[in-house]
This record gives sequence, structure tokens and C-alpha cells, in this order.
Amino acid sequence: MAEHTFLRGPKDWWRQAVVYQIYPRSYADNNGDGIGDLKGITSRVPYLKELGVDAVWLSPFYPSELADGGYDVADYRNIDPRIGTLEEFDEMLEALHAVGIRVFVDVVPNHSSDQHEWFQAALKAPKGSPERDRYIFRDGKGENGEIRPSELASHFGPTGWTRITEPDGTPGQWYMHLFAKEQPDFNWDNQEVRDDFIKTMRFWSDRGVDGYRIDVAHALVKNLKEGHLPARTSFDLSAMKNDGTDDLFDRDEVHEIYKSWRQVYNEYDPPRVAVAEAWVHANRRARYASEEGLGQSFSFDLAFEPWNAKKFHDTISYNLAASEKTGSSNTWVFSNHDVIRHATRFGLDAESLSNLPKWFRSADRESKINKPLGLARARAATMLILALPGSTYLYQGEELGLQEPLNIPSDQMQDPQWFRSEGSISRDGCRVPMPWTSTGSSFGFGPGGSHLPQPEWFKDVNVQKQDGVAGSTLELYRTALMLRKGLVCAEKLTWNKHWFNSNVLDFTRPNGWRSVTNFGNRSIKLPKGKVLLSSGPLDGNRLPGNTTVWLQG
Ligand code: GLC
Ligand code: CA
Repeated sequence: MAEHTFLRGPKDWWRQAVVYQIYPRSYADNNGDGIGDLKGITSRVPYLKELGVDAVWLSPFYPSELADGGYDVADYRNIDPRIGTLEEFDEMLEALHAVGIRVFVDVVPNHSSDQHEWFQAALKAPKGSPERDRYIFRDGKGENGEIRPSELASHFGPTGWTRITEPDGTPGQWYMHLFAKEQPDFNWDNQEVRDDFIKTMRFWSDRGVDGYRIDVAHALVKNLKEGHLPARTSFDLSAMKNDGTDDLFDRDEVHEIYKSWRQVYNEYDPPRVAVAEAWVHANRRARYASEEGLGQSFSFDLAFEPWNAKKFHDTISYNLAASEKTGSSNTWVFSNHDVIRHATRFGLDAESLSNLPKWFRSADRESKINKPLGLARARAATMLILALPGSTYLYQGEELGLQEPLNIPSDQMQDPQWFRSEGSISRDGCRVPMPWTSTGSSFGFGPGGSHLPQPEWFKDVNVQKQDGVAGSTLELYRTALMLRKGLVCAEKLTWNKHWFNSNVLDFTRPNGWRSVTNFGNRSIKLPKGKVLLSSGPLDGNRLPGNTTVWLQG
């Protein structure tokens, strides 16, 4: 394996980048219709620059009926008119590039929207037609085909098969969908599907997009031969084989697709980059991160870890060792548009954290969050991952220390997971529009309302309240990102052992940049070194519990 040290060249910008995820419909609304838009994002470029991120990743902004928050794409090479136009996209890209911020877009290759012209054509075309072959259509079982082809359950609900009505009005074939019924899965054995995604990659790369986040990257290729139609709960990792031969997920053949994408990415200068969202067994992740493939793969391991030094240590070590093997760089993530915000997670007791749906369903869920503690730990945790070798993915609003809004009435929920889990979990909370100001109908999100209700307490937690205020979470992030730029060095670390205290996680990077996190509740003696930054106030020469400090050798 080639030696991979930092500072190889301009094409390696992504290796230790801080990537900030924007959920476009909830970031900034320029025209006041309650939906965030591209012009809104452009208007926040100065904010992003001051925050100090290296790149932004935009969740889908394509035309969509929003059956799954935009992850049901009706046209991969266009912009939802409610969000903007291609010209506005170019303006946004130019404004971000002008301040040195790169742009990732989200590509959703496993499924389209049922409104996609190909799916509409498939509905009109006869059984066995080339139009149907782009998706996964099967006859039902039973005398009249009335029984679904297999017992497959979808990620969002009871069944992964939906029956169509044929053009002549009779009940017809069934199509497969791992997610909502409005998200039919593509048939990746079909060459037209393959060619079309290459076209999409070129379309955005030609416009100047720097990178791609690949949605459910492990699901594209399936083994659906006779007798193989999957019959299990679709996303059950424990039921997934980890040798590349599973019928549904993580099949070895999927990497042929990524190899072909890599060839396209490498036609550009600098080469376009990509990060896989692949929910696979940890030992299989490396394949997605290979240099001949997408190049990087998300590790969500820390997002499921409780606040525990040993668990963090083991997870970090495992991931570092894995990237050492592939030559890729690590990804560290606590929050995104799919999970409960980490300031809230870290404030939950162990029992609630171990069963989030149960906690979410409980009537007194608010009272089970220790918010100050959650925030202190979230700040400490973020400083910890920012000091690690690899890239950090941040999610909009975490730079304010936002807690998860839990006030959304059920009739205003939008997430399909909420409906199909019968109220056990919803991703709407983390998608509530950003609070920019203390007042105004939508706390500065825009001149109108907000497509999801914002909680009253946003008046106390917003950009305006924290801007320029020493010790605020926003200023902590700004300072941390600024310092980090000067500190990033070779992608290595050395653990410093604390033999008598298992609550401390302490490491030094090759240039002497040292990060110490006290996971316990009692303060510890501050190790020697110049204090650069701490996630909370220090107590003289002691490091309080639930706090991280950065030191210089
Ligand atoms: C990914 C997205 C999630 C979406 C799903 C289906 O997991 O992050 O938001 O619901 O894919 O596209
Ligand atoms: Ca708008």
C-alpha cells in the first residue's frame, strides 16, 4: 500500500475537510414561501465563510413530490422550481467557490420518484417492455397474481412491493421499493440506467460540482433471480451476509458501477470526489472507500455510541486502522438529517439512548433529556472529532448547539418514517428550519413562515444570539475550525495513556496538537502544554468533566 501522508497535492483537499451538510428546504428561505431555496443558501455564503467550513454538502434539491424529503427524485438533472433554477444553482456554486468552499451534491441512485418520467412510462408500457425493465417489476403469486411476489418489508413500512393498475384498468404487476412506495427501485442490470447516471455525474461535474454523496450506496445491485426474491425485513444488518453474496445488499458487483463512476470523476481536474452512504458490516466498508471506487465511505459508528471513553477509543481505533488499510481517510459524523441531534442524544439517560423509539414514544420524553449536560458533551465530542485525522461532517444547526425540536404536532409531521412506524420515530425534528434571529415569524429563516413548526425556544438559540458572544457554541465552532486549519497535519495520532482514569481520551497528532477529553464528571489535572481552546470553561489548571481541551506540545 502506498505511503499516504498529508499534503500530497491539490487533489487531496477532501482528506481532512470539514464538510457542512445543508438540508436546502430548511436552511434559508429567500422568497418567503416557507421553503428554503438556493437563493437563500447564496445569501448565507458570508456566514459559511465565517464559520470556516471547507465544503458544503446539499441534500437533494431536485424536483420531487417530497414523499421522502426530496430523496424521491423526479429529475436528476434539474432543480425543484420551489427551490430555484439551474441558473440560481450556478450562482450559488460560484459564490461558494469564490470564498473557497467546495460543493457536494446528493445522488440517489437506488430509486427514483414514482413521478420520474421513466416510471410513468413504465406504468403505461406493457409487461416485459424495455420501459418496465428499468425498474423491478414482477408478477404476483396466487391465481390472479394478487399475492405479493415475496415477503420483503420496506424500510418505511410493512411491504416492499406495490401493485399497479395496468393501462387497460386491470390489477397488474408489482414493483419493488426498499423505501416508500413512491420510491421505486431501479434495475441496475439495465444498461440504460447505468448510462443515465453517468450522464448525471457528467452534468453536475461539468457545472463545477466538486463531490458527491451517494445515497444508500450498498443497495443498487440485487440478486433477483428465480427463487431469490428477498423475504426479510429490508434493512436488517444482522440478517445481511458480510461476504458480498447477500441477495439484497452490499453485493460485490456494486463496485463495478463505482469503478465506472471513478473513471468519470478522474476525467476532471481536480478529480471529483465521492462519499458513500453504505450501511454495511464494518469489515466491508473499505470497498466503498477504495481509490478505484468512491474514495470515501461514511462511518456512522460514533453516532450510535453512548458517552463513554472506552467505546469512543475502540471505535476510533477501529476506523483508523481500517483507513490505514485502504489509503482512504476517515469520516466522523454525529448528526445528519436522519438522526436525533447529538446535543439531545448525549443528554439522554442510558436506557432512553439504547431504545430511541421507546424514548420517542414516551409522553414525558422532554423530561428525560438533561439539556445542559447534552450540550456540554456535544461540544466536547465535536472538538474531539475535529482533532482526529480524517474529515468531519457537520450538520446545519449543530454549530448553535441545537437540541432536537420535539414539539411538532402529528398532523404537521412530514417524514414517511413517522407514518409508517406509527409514531415511533420521526426525522422531522432535525429538519426544522434554521433559527437565524431571535424574532420574526420564522426566526430569520425567511420573510414568511416555516414548512415545519419551529419551537418557541429558538428565540434563545439562534445565530443572532450567539454571534460574537464569547463562549457561545457558534463562536466555539468558528474558533475550532479556524485553529484546525492551521493544525491539520499527517493523518496519524498517538494515544496518551491515563492508567488511573478510564474516563479520559487523550491523543497527540504528529505536530504536537493534543486533544484531551474528560468523559467523567470529576475534573482532572490539565496535562502540560499551551491551551489553544476548550469546549467549556477550565477550572484553573484542571479540566472539568464533559469537556475537551486542545493543547499545543
Ligand atoms: C438515505 C437518506 C435518507 C433517505 C433514504 C432513502 O438513507 O439519508 O434520508 O430516506 O436514503 O433515500
Ligand atoms: Ca422559498
